[in-house]
Amino acid sequence: MSISTNSQASSKLDELGREAASCQAYPLWKGATQTVFGERPPNADVMFVGEQPGDREDREGRPFIGPARLLLDKALIEARVDRKRVYVTNAVKHFKFEPRGKRRLHKRPNASEIKICRRWLFEEIEAISPRLIVALGATAAQGLVGKVIPVQSNRGSVLTAESGLRVFVTIHPSALLRLQGEEAKRSGYASFVNDLRSIERLLDYSPDETKSVLPCPALNP
Ligand code: URA
Repeated sequence: MSISTNSQASSKLDELGREAASCQAYPLWKGATQTVFGERPPNADVMFVGEQPGDREDREGRPFIGPARLLLDKALIEARVDRKRVYVTNAVKHFKFEPRGKRRLHKRPNASEIKICRRWLFEEIEAISPRLIVALGATAAQGLVGKVIPVQSNRGSVLTAESGLRVFVTIHPSALLRLQGEEAKRSGYASFVNDLRSIERLLDYSPDETKSVLPCPALNP
């Protein structure tokens, strides 16, 4: 990407971030502190899509800054994916939670919330034009592809939409944080790193890597 394309992407993302900040398309905005938009660099060639901001991300206004991020960064280093080439965002831009005393417990976004938020996700994709998009878990895959994608049977493979949008599917790092027992944690983490190791290779695209061709309602959200 040239310097001018970089700065165009950067100002487009600034503009989108400002627009998204006042998005009230779905009632989730009422409980949330703010819209949490994606984080640069604008010249990223890989885009990671998570589920939705958590409690801390909601308060600080940045995606993936909690424990899931630490795990993701560690795994990226082990998989030799350069963090500076990675843009991080979420399928849903507002924190959805259930109040429990003083705590706010994460609640999974539903299909309508995912669908409404696709507008922002696809605007980000258009601004950045990543060479590969990584769906971290089921909500991200659904947001990107436009239908429910079983993560376990698709992890480690690339789904290619008719539009050419390439989505590499893996688990969400938060799923690793919920695993019980040392052995489950160790092997879960190793499989995650193994998934991420495919990224460098997939950036040198070979059509043979594609698992399936999906219709792409996603590009007309
Ligand atoms: N989990 C996500 O999916 N996104 C975040 O921003 C934080 C945790």
